[in-house]
Amino acid sequence: MCGIIGILGSDAVAPAILAGLRRLEYRGYDSAGIATVTNGCLDRRRAAGKLAILERTLDAAPLSGLSGIGHTRWATHGSPTEENAHPHATDRLALVHNGIIENFSELRKELLAKGYVFASETDSEVCAQLITAYLQEENLSPQDAFAKALTRLRGAFAIAVLFAGEDDLILCARRGSPLALGRGEDEIFLGSDAYALAPFTNRVTYLQDGDWAVLTRSKFTIYDAKNQSVKRNETISLAMNTIVEKEGYRHFMAKEIHEQPDVIAHTLSRYLNPESKTVCLPETGLDFTTFDRLTISACGSAYYAGLIAKYWFERWAKIPVEIDVASELRYRDVPYTDNCGALFISQSGETADTLAALREARVHHQKIAALVNVAESSIAREADAVFTIDAGPEIGVASTKAFTCQLAALACIAIAAGRARGNLKAEEEGRLVSALLEIPRRIAEALKSSDAIKEIANEIAKATDVLYIGRGMNFPLALEGALKLKEISYIHAEGYAAGELKHGPIALIDKSLPVVVLAPHDRHFEKTVSNMHEVMARDGKALLISDKKGLAAAGDVWASIEMPDTDPDLSPIVYAAAVQLLAYFTATRKGTDVDQPRNLAKSVTVE
Ligand code: G6P
Repeated sequence: MCGIIGILGSDAVAPAILAGLRRLEYRGYDSAGIATVTNGCLDRRRAAGKLAILERTLDAAPLSGLSGIGHTRWATHGSPTEENAHPHATDRLALVHNGIIENFSELRKELLAKGYVFASETDSEVCAQLITAYLQEENLSPQDAFAKALTRLRGAFAIAVLFAGEDDLILCARRGSPLALGRGEDEIFLGSDAYALAPFTNRVTYLQDGDWAVLTRSKFTIYDAKNQSVKRNETISLAMNTIVEKEGYRHFMAKEIHEQPDVIAHTLSRYLNPESKTVCLPETGLDFTTFDRLTISACGSAYYAGLIAKYWFERWAKIPVEIDVASELRYRDVPYTDNCGALFISQSGETADTLAALREARVHHQKIAALVNVAESSIAREADAVFTIDAGPEIGVASTKAFTCQLAALACIAIAAGRARGNLKAEEEGRLVSALLEIPRRIAEALKSSDAIKEIANEIAKATDVLYIGRGMNFPLALEGALKLKEISYIHAEGYAAGELKHGPIALIDKSLPVVVLAPHDRHFEKTVSNMHEVMARDGKALLISDKKGLAAAGDVWASIEMPDTDPDLSPIVYAAAVQLLAYFTATRKGTDVDQPRNLAKSVTVE
């Protein structure tokens, strides 16, 4: 994974590379580094830890040079030390890499046998040593050595290389991991995404898989995997140049939780007509009447959004839904038919596993739809039909507003599918649309429980394990609640279908174990509350999240959070706010790094 940037500039490039890296930190923040070339000499600065540490290193020892490359790392091979930080250098070149070189150990052995000395434990360094070997042993030009090295690499990567003695040259390649080129006035840029390039240019050309490119200040030339020179279209990127601020909130996550009423309203306005109380999807060419099955695939919170949507597609559209975590889809030998739709959900639109699952579906001639927050992302570019959400940039690594916006959009798509297939009457569509239009207000009400949730979180912070249970579409929300808690507070948490508790997890219950019970007063309420009583009978601490009616009916519990009344079909969208706040306040109580939790990254571009 990781973020990479390269600039052939007209001024000292290190500060600009740092600015670009700041916009790529969502891809990893284990270490960072920059290399430049000045009068033919390579120089570099690297630092373990977040970008701020590299910034201090550069303040103490600035880097000159009009050409440079930079990298922010999410460690795969080798711990997050300075030695393992990119750029990796030999006396001939410096290299940054995003992705995984799957045959690195075989290449490393080969190079070690020839006497090449490795300074890091990374897979990436083999690329640097391999190109160096071709430069030295075969006396090849940088371009030929680079092209030859590419033929030896297996895996997914985006690579950029700077050469000693070459003040006006960067070579880069894309296989699997994204890479965009940007054109300025006598300047050329490369970056992992258009957002990184936004401070410098909006004229963006995306490399396609297998492409590699030769960059000089005046132009770039792109070659395809067969080394044929190719033209790729330049697009005008809409990525925002501004850096997103916390606007008075202590963390981005808190800001993003509180933005939900607005961004959900924006997302809904894209899909709903409030006058006619109907869903109006953008024209995508997707025909739900032709599907005899829908395959949904995604990772992390987006996967849980898909799990909730499965209930909607099956209930309203009567389309059988199969759903997989994207990293597993292709190991299942799915018997695809020509009448299957495949829906991929991804906030970033760059998640490697989701993209790989999409490509697998493409091989099987599926009609591919994507739901993304980033309209210019790889997943959006490769889908047949694209649905977007209007969450705006989500900076906190733990997804919050993107998750609820995904749910809002998915509900609309499922309703439209239901109408198209003749399964949802106009009256029912009107009821659901009215309920959806109410969601922003309901979430705003739910957020008013902040203070009460904070108090409960102070108690949850003392726990070492927490269970979340729910039934029906609140079961996936239990999974999402547990994920939120573990990723930012580092407390072990698991989500279970409430009915499954008695088949194992109940053995864990004792007086130290909080169990979060997601139980709106709907048709599942009584059964879920029975499961809660099974917890309480064993001294477990039941935290009930329900509405007024539910709380009154349930009687005494260890703790409770009151949610506003919500349409039972849509309650997970509103109840998400409660589990997000619970995780947030637990994490702040524990003093963890809420926006950039350890070991995680916002966009996971390795499989
Ligand atoms: C990472 C993030 C999660 C996110 C998941 C999928 O693991 O930490 O918050 O849900 O990736 O990301 P995507 O961009 O595909 O939705």
